[in-house]
Amino acid sequence: MLKEKLEKLKEKAINELTQVKDSNSFSLLEIHILGRKGELAELVKQLPTVPVKERPEVGALSNEIKRELLKCFEEKKKDFNVSNTTVSDIDITLPGIRHAKGSLHPVTWAIEELERIFTRLGFVRVRYNEVEWDYYAFEALNMPKDHPARDEWETFFLTDHEVGPLGKIVLTPHTSSGQVREMEKYSKTGEPIRMMNISKCYRRQIDISHTPMFHQFEGLVVDKDVTMTQLLGTLDYFAKEFFGSERKVRLRPYHFRFTEPSFEVDITCALCLGKGCSYCKDGWTELGGAGMVHTNVLKAGGYDAKHYSGFAFGFGVERCYLMKNNLNIGDLRQLYSNDIRFLKQF
Ligand code: DAH
Repeated sequence: MLKEKLEKLKEKAINELTQVKDSNSFSLLEIHILGRKGELAELVKQLPTVPVKERPEVGALSNEIKRELLKCFEEKKKDFNVSNTTVSDIDITLPGIRHAKGSLHPVTWAIEELERIFTRLGFVRVRYNEVEWDYYAFEALNMPKDHPARDEWETFFLTDHEVGPLGKIVLTPHTSSGQVREMEKYSKTGEPIRMMNISKCYRRQIDISHTPMFHQFEGLVVDKDVTMTQLLGTLDYFAKEFFGSERKVRLRPYHFRFTEPSFEVDITCALCLGKGCSYCKDGWTELGGAGMVHTNVLKAGGYDAKHYSGFAFGFGVERCYLMKNNLNIGDLRQLYSNDIRFLKQF
């Protein structure tokens, strides 16, 4: 009978409580009797097994016993000063607990820094998917099917046939594929664009200076009267903020299908600052590509190329990070080997 068991527990508890001599055994007894999984709680759990008629009476009894026991334990607690740690209990000469210090992955650090720099110029960071339609990765960027320019972005196709009007699906090979996607959002209303797309990219490449997955950051500006001087000014600001005020950039004519004119962007060498040395030869090292947005790309994005113009640039994040810190890490793949001993150094 539950009623008798409850009465017995009360008797036992009070009896044991009178014999308790120190705070340790007091705490143990308190947990044992009144704890969440203590003896009283176990008995209360059996309440549903009591016949319905007697249940209110037994329920009331268990409440009353609990109240009484709580009071007795409260009373007894005063003998031991249980929860009050006194100053003399603390040994202030013990050494503290040292917490391990974490740090950002170098590439995460670089991405955050790039975002900060371009935000100051009014660029808005966007992100696009890691898989892309053939259309946005190539066709909308003025690279028709079978055009040899596509070879440069050797890619991982996820489908071997066209799965809709936008073609095959591919792991995003470069952040430039965000250009037309971004234009489609704003061209209908003719709003200007200042986009910074920082994302993972995938190419069929793996050696000491390439990984199949890497990061790029892509700038795109579309507006009325956008000029090449603004492109150069933007790149110069970026170079000075990211690499240091003593560095300079230059544009070297090149060919991309989606910009006209197109350039490769060079920066003065970290070691000789442009004088020329055995590392860089002529004083410059390459950063990435840039140019004025091709009219076909503006059209694909829905902008009237007679009234709108734009510039774009795309650089590798890992490459910029290494060049900023003048790091010659031997094998770029180590950045993604997840070896904490390696990553700790940065
Ligand atoms: N998408 C190019 C690449 O992956 C880089 C690039 C070149 C981006 C010229 C641009 C550009 O926006 O204008 O190599």
